[in-house]
Amino acid sequence: MIQLKEIDKYIESRFQRVFILKGINLTINEGEFITLMGPSGAGKSTLLNILGLLDEDYAGEYFFGDKSIRKMKDKERSSLHKSEFGYIFQAYHLIDELTVYENIETPLLYRSVSSTERKSIIANLLDRFNMVAKKDLFPAQLSGGQQQLVGIARAIAGRPRVLLADEPTGNLHSGQAREIMEIFQELHAEGTTIIQATHARENADFGTRLINLVDGRIETDEAIAK
Ligand SMILES: Nc1ncnc2c1ncn2[C@@H]1O[C@H](COP(=O)(O)OP(=O)(O)O)[C@@H](O)[C@H]1O
Ligand SMILES: [Mg+2]
Repeated sequence: MIQLKEIDKYIESRFQRVFILKGINLTINEGEFITLMGPSGAGKSTLLNILGLLDEDYAGEYFFGDKSIRKMKDKERSSLHKSEFGYIFQAYHLIDELTVYENIETPLLYRSVSSTERKSIIANLLDRFNMVAKKDLFPAQLSGGQQQLVGIARAIAGRPRVLLADEPTGNLHSGQAREIMEIFQELHAEGTTIIQATHARENADFGTRLINLVDGRIETDEAIAK
């Protein structure tokens, strides 16, 4: 589904080139649930941003299916980005001025989903995450765990094929973190490809593959024993 070939990401400092990612070769098959681990600064977020087409400033090749990202027109790339990827961030990135309902609705508005269909998708998600009673509240009125559930609901509302999550449980208590991982496990069972960056080794056990990044390189890449 996704293939990265010899990806280098670097910044030019005054005297030298500083590599953030170096020689990344990675093949991701549809339906995998991958965990990226590694020390702070190892390049996990940078790699997720490249995978999610949020960062195009790198060397090397990225294929989505049989298509080279670099050879795509801007419009094609941006439509791929919108239609295939969902993002979950550590800091939720909810819009403070919008209610829970409206936050979940935003990606559906971008995709011009009809109003009837939007209502039904959002009703299902609220139900699934036990948030029906919270739909008219604003993010500030929710706990961290609830805000992250809204972030997940928003990310999956458009049924992305690939879900990218950067430290999705970073601000949560262990019980809430577990709940989020169980949701990921369900989405994975439904066929969603998931790539998460995390510091928590226990989160990796919910997935199928563990990749360790150190200093911008893949140090180990192994299957998770079930
Ligand atoms: N735009 C940037 N300019 C300069 N340095 C950056 C930039 N983005 C990331 N870095 C550096 O690259 C390294 C990897 O960052 P990051 O991908 O955020 O690591 P991780 O998510 O594994 O903690 C860090 O040392 C960070 O400071
Ligand atoms: Mg990071």
